[in-house]
Amino acid sequence: MSKQNILGIDIGGSFLKSAPVDILTGTLIAEPFKVSTPSCAEPVQLVSVILQLMQHFDWTSQIGIGFPGVVRDGIVRTAIHLHPDWVGLNIRALLKPLARTDVSVLNDADAAGLAEMAFGAGRDEPTRSDGTTLLITLGTGIGSALFRHRRLIPNTEFGHIYLESGEEAEAVASASLRPKLNLSWEEFGQRVDRYLRYVDRLVAPDLIIVGGGVSEEWEKFSPYLSNLERIRPARFGNNAGLIGAALYRDYISLGD
Ligand code: BGC
Repeated sequence: MSKQNILGIDIGGSFLKSAPVDILTGTLIAEPFKVSTPSCAEPVQLVSVILQLMQHFDWTSQIGIGFPGVVRDGIVRTAIHLHPDWVGLNIRALLKPLARTDVSVLNDADAAGLAEMAFGAGRDEPTRSDGTTLLITLGTGIGSALFRHRRLIPNTEFGHIYLESGEEAEAVASASLRPKLNLSWEEFGQRVDRYLRYVDRLVAPDLIIVGGGVSEEWEKFSPYLSNLERIRPARFGNNAGLIGAALYRDYISLGD
């Protein structure tokens, strides 16, 4: 196991997905392995799935985790789609004695943003030194990652803003609503457009990257988006979160 390989784990509302990542190139060095997120997603259950993912890859060295909520210094501050017991928990401290390796953790959308900025759709953008890039992930919920001068401003949570209609963005444009409400691609695209136009007015980014698994269906809903010259799909689709989780370096050492 080379030192430049880190196991990336993306905790999603529907699946936990993991793969070893070569952090110098952002490439996966094995097929990703996916396990359904346990229904009530209590800490003890998710931790045992994380250990199962490590076992699957026979992994004993560093891991990086993307978590679907606000995370500061390893401590979970919000966990809307998981069990409320997560709030206040220090994921790194919880995993340290069990995983017996260095653990880093950050918000899942921030992780996806890091991957896209380093090796994907944001790699060469924006070229202006004062540029702002915003990545939006459309999945079970909506996540956001904001970059200024290519530096991450973490935990932005633009999925929870309220649109002019008074609806929360997640209740309008999450990818999970499409099958749930039986929306056509046109209806879904129009919802995403309504959301992106609103966020665009708030943040005025030079570039918006649309991520999450649904970005792999870009051709189907992008015809309904305005300002397309400043919007592009993520390169790594659903794998961006686990790649970025591996790239993020805030390890605690086991010697601490
Ligand atoms: C959470 C975010 C997360 C997003 C995508 C939202 O509900 O609040 O922290 O990034 O879902 O998982």
